[in-house]
Amino acid sequence: MSESSLPKVAVVTGAGSGIGRATALRFVRGGCHVLAVGRRAEPLAETAALAGGAAQVTTAALDIAEPGAMDAAVQALVAAQGRVDALVANAGINPQRADALETTDEAWEETLRINLTGLHRSCRAVLPHMIAQKYGTIVATGSVSGQVGMAERCAYGPTKAGVIQYARNLAIDYARHGIRANSINPAFVVTDMTRGWLESRPEGVLDQIVAAHPLGLGKPEDVANAAWFLSTGESRWITGVDLSVDGGFTAH
Ligand SMILES: NC(=O)c1ccc[n+]([C@@H]2O[C@H](COP(=O)([O-])OP(=O)(O)OC[C@H]3O[C@@H](n4cnc5c(N)ncnc54)[C@H](O)[C@@H]3O)[C@@H](O)[C@H]2O)c1
Repeated sequence: MSESSLPKVAVVTGAGSGIGRATALRFVRGGCHVLAVGRRAEPLAETAALAGGAAQVTTAALDIAEPGAMDAAVQALVAAQGRVDALVANAGINPQRADALETTDEAWEETLRINLTGLHRSCRAVLPHMIAQKYGTIVATGSVSGQVGMAERCAYGPTKAGVIQYARNLAIDYARHGIRANSINPAFVVTDMTRGWLESRPEGVLDQIVAAHPLGLGKPEDVANAAWFLSTGESRWITGVDLSVDGGFTAH
């Protein structure tokens, strides 16, 4: 991989909103064709429209954790575009912010199903193609709550620690095939996932949360730029890393 190499064809999951949408748009801006994956067709169509249409973005509305769903979508992408250079496995959920006693079985199982099984099935869908090409990059979206302890993240935190470890293991298993894998780990970014929760914090608490980020809260584009860097040749000697993209949150 040369320093100047750029991905030509990428898959971004969770691309209908927030960090995933910003990532899809960042990759299109870098000259990449993007397969935008998400649960619902309508937000994905909005992402495609923002990117300037079907030549730059194709969409697939599916559940990443459903057996075979990602395999079929990636196969169709490779049939149309001839390759898949990058995966940004960004889709994730945090359905219940709760401690261990309050976490419902349903929230526990769904968080593991999407954040870990969905990640695994997304990676397994691109790996055979990347191995055949002897080239590929995978960026998995973890979270600072997979790096440090945080209150009321009983299910979410362990899944994000799992995302980080999953990327490390991929890095080791597939380096010999020219494939790199890293995780990016945001602190608070205002998106659909966090907006309502942040706005409902008692008076003063939001100020404390903002103050825990020396550079303030992040924007989806800040995370998208990190995903782009880790998918280009400029990061060709970086693999197995868990990169905090957090405005100084973990340093603080
Ligand atoms: N916003 C933050 O502060 C923050 C912080 C750390 C990590 N993250 C992580 O960043 C990623 C993106 O989150 P966001 O903040 O943009 O929130 P978001 O809710 O806007 O985006 C998540 C996206 O994933 C999609 N998705 C969820 N389950 C899916 C499934 N089964 N199949 C396909 N798509 C599915 C959703 O439709 C949505 O578009 C997530 O993995 C999240 O855990 C976010």
